Amino acid sequence: MSDPTPYRAAVFGATSAIATETLRALVAERPAELLLVGRNPERLETLAADLRARGAECEVHATDLLNPDAPWASILSGGDWDLFLIAHGSLPDQQATLDDPHATGREIDVNLISPVRIAATCARILEKQQRGTLAVFGSVAGDRGRQSNYLYGATKAALETFLAGLRHRFAEHPEVKITLLKPGLTDTPMTADIEKGPLFSPASKVGADAWSAVRKGKSTAYLPGWWRYVMFVIRHLPDFVLHKTKL
Ligand SMILES: NC(=O)c1ccc[n+]([C@@H]2O[C@H](COP(=O)([O-])OP(=O)(O)OC[C@H]3O[C@@H](n4cnc5c(N)ncnc54)[C@H](OP(=O)(O)O)[C@@H]3O)[C@@H](O)[C@H]2O)c1
Repeated sequence: MSDPTPYRAAVFGATSAIATETLRALVAERPAELLLVGRNPERLETLAADLRARGAECEVHATDLLNPDAPWASILSGGDWDLFLIAHGSLPDQQATLDDPHATGREIDVNLISPVRIAATCARILEKQQRGTLAVFGSVAGDRGRQSNYLYGATKAALETFLAGLRHRFAEHPEVKITLLKPGLTDTPMTADIEKGPLFSPASKVGADAWSAVRKGKSTAYLPGWWRYVMFVIRHLPDFVLHKTKL
């Protein structure tokens, strides 16, 4: 019999295709009360309607995730949370971004500074609760600097190091889980301009695997799991081999 206690989750960048599928997998399995946080009120409402139709209770909070003074922190305090999920991210044209110092800063803000700021706030709440999960979307791109996506990859690598430190901080609190979710290439709006090949997975598979990793309290999960082996090979390629590829 499934657990009747509502599972309480706050999700940042909730409108992401992968986060949407993660939440659908969650609400298919158990009752849930969700706080959906993001920048676009219409898209958040559309998502909330979808999840309500699947049985979840949803609140929506539209805010600028990059603004350190935005009121999302006070909205979280006082709640008793099972899960904080941080999903927002961006992958624009790398060279155009690097050619514009302001755009470079914005990308580092979206993919690293803002998630770190939100994660730090969530960690304070988990510390008070002495329980709950913080799950954050990193990427296989963080495993090795490669010419195709080293700006994005560098932010995800730094995020991974930050989460490893948080996991160490909570090592003596086994009821607090810090989960790094590492999708590989996934067919979502983020990759709309990238030609699809055999390494692409549907968002529904990646989201279902993300929920499974969260539910099991995993520390790090490649999504789907076979990316662990792909990235093992890529991490161990000598530079003189890697540099002959277009990876
Ligand atoms: N897709 C992949 O191949 C892939 C691979 C590895 C890792 N990931 C990671 O997985 C996570 C989810 O990605 P996805 O593929 O599901 O992406 P997606 O469908 O394109 O969604 C991106 C999300 O980020 C939000 N966002 C983008 N720029 C923002 C900004 N400046 N301020 C606030 N929110 C912003 C979007 O909000 P709006 O809805 O308002 O646009 C949306 O919620 C990301 O962290 C991504 O880096 C994705």
